Order: sequence, then C-alpha cells, then structure tokens
Amino acid sequence: MTDGGVVTQDVRGRTMLITINRPEKRNALDRQVRSAFLDAIAAARANDAVRAIVVTGAGDKAFVAGADIAEFEDRTTVEQWRAMKSATIFDAVERCPKPVIAAVNGFCLGGGMELALACDIRIASTAAKFGQPEVNLGIIPGGGGTQRLPRIVGLGAALRLILTGDLIGADDALRLGLVEEVVEPSALIDRALALAETIASKSPVAVAAAKEATRAALSLPLDDGLKLETALFQVCFASDDRAEGVRAFLEKRTAQFTGK
Ligand code: COA
Repeated sequence: MTDGGVVTQDVRGRTMLITINRPEKRNALDRQVRSAFLDAIAAARANDAVRAIVVTGAGDKAFVAGADIAEFEDRTTVEQWRAMKSATIFDAVERCPKPVIAAVNGFCLGGGMELALACDIRIASTAAKFGQPEVNLGIIPGGGGTQRLPRIVGLGAALRLILTGDLIGADDALRLGLVEEVVEPSALIDRALALAETIASKSPVAVAAAKEATRAALSLPLDDGLKLETALFQVCFASDDRAEGVRAFLEKRTAQFTGK
C-alpha cells in the first residue's frame, strides 16, 4: 500500500482500492489530487495482477466535495481552459479497460459527483449525499456532469439537480438509478471490494470488451454499436480466455482466466 499521499493505492486481492486522501478538505480535487489520481489509475492499468478498481474518499464525511474551489480564485480563464483540456480523471476512469466501482461514503458533489458518474458502477453508503452545486458558484459542471448525468438518470432528473444545486440522499439516488446499491457505512468498502472481486474473477478480456461495448451504447447509433459489439465479440472469441472458459464449463470446473 502507498501511504501518506493525497491519493493512496492499496491492492487487495485482485482489486486496487484507490482512496482520495484529503479528508480535512473533504477530499476536494486540487491539482495534486488530480495528478496523483491519474498516477493511481495508470498504475492499476499497468499491473496485470489488478483486474478491478474501487475508488473511495478518506474519512466518514466525504467521497469528494468537488473541485478545490480555492484554486478557482486566482486562475485565469486560459489556465482553467488548459486544465480542462489536459488529461482528466473522468476520462481516465471511463477509458480504463478495467472496471471502476465508486464507493461513495459521504458528500459527493460537483467534480466528485462527476468522478462517480464516470465510474462503471456506484455503491453508496446510507450517509452519501449527491449534488451538482456549481450554479451556486456561477459556473456549470465542467467534468462531464451535464453529459453523463442525463445519460444515467434521464433529462428531467439531471436538470433538477444541475439547475437547483440541491443535494439528494442515498435513497433518492437509488430511486433515480444514480447508484446501483445502498449499504450501511460500515459495510461499504467490503461490499464494493466483494463486487470488484466478482468481476475480477471473470475473463479480463471479456470484461474490458464488455465495458467498451456497453458504454458505446450511450454514444453510438444502434447499427454502429452492434458492429462494435460483433468486432469485440470476435476479439473475445480469439482469446485464450474463451478457450479456457469453454473448456472449464465442459470439464465442470472453475475457469482460470489469464487475460490473454
Ligand atoms: N474546495 C475547497 N475546499 C473545500 C471544498 C471544496 N470543494 N469543500 C470543502 N472544503 C473545505 C472547507 O473550505 C473547509 O476548509 P477549512 O477547514 O480550511 O475552512 C473544510 O473543507 C471542511 O469543510 P466544511 O464546509 O467546514 O465542512 P462541512 O462538513 O460543514 O460541509 C460541504 C461539507 C461539502 C457541504 C461543504 O464544505 C461544501 O459545500 N463544499 C463545497 C461543495 C461544492 O460547492 N462543490 C462544487 C465545487 S465546483
């Protein structure tokens, strides 16, 4: 486990637990956190022993309370534009071939909400609070919130959150389909890790292909999406994992996938 930094990496079984570790600032995303988070995702991608990722926030108050508002004060428009054009934590999560699960433990606001939205699956503790409060600051979501939120919860629910800046609790988030599951705070990390391990036990080739194909459903026309699905199916079909998966089924044993 890495320790002491603003983002920690802890490999548990076949899952990397990435913790944003700035609890005194409610895990707000400043430049240092963003950079360390990108490093953590890159490390998880590069490590063949890691097959799934769980992202959470340190402490019991916040997952991530948004972009670091203090950074906005002195930043010029050009500096802000450059920051938004450089590699973002949101794209890094979405494009990561390994599944990323958000374990949301408290305030999940602004850029924190956008980070959760970029993740593949969201699990919330009963203490989680979600919102896009940017309108209170005279800005709009800039980490993909206006695009990803309506794709996940629908236009009306997204606009209600984005236009009012209101916060909602875990039960409302579950009802909207913003999160897949709600658990007691003490069970959150174990539940997220268990889900990650379930996925980690599958073929990494199939999991990566499934993530890419399913995500493409939100941006591609149906015909193009179906073509992509067929192409990725062929990739899986040619893999050692497919041979092993089929053989293990016929031999009535658990498959040992290598990701090749
Ligand atoms: N950026 C920078 N600092 C932040 C922050 C953010 N997004 N969110 C919280 N902090 C800091 C506070 O300034 C405070 O710092 P201080 O102790 O040096 O004064 C510390 O974190 C604790 O915050 P506090 O407001 O005292 O905690 P709380 O538990 O009462 O409230 C929040 C938590 C998250 C509701 C509140 O901090 C908040 O509204 N934060 C801003 C959320 C937001 O607008 N995010 C979108 C940004 S685009």
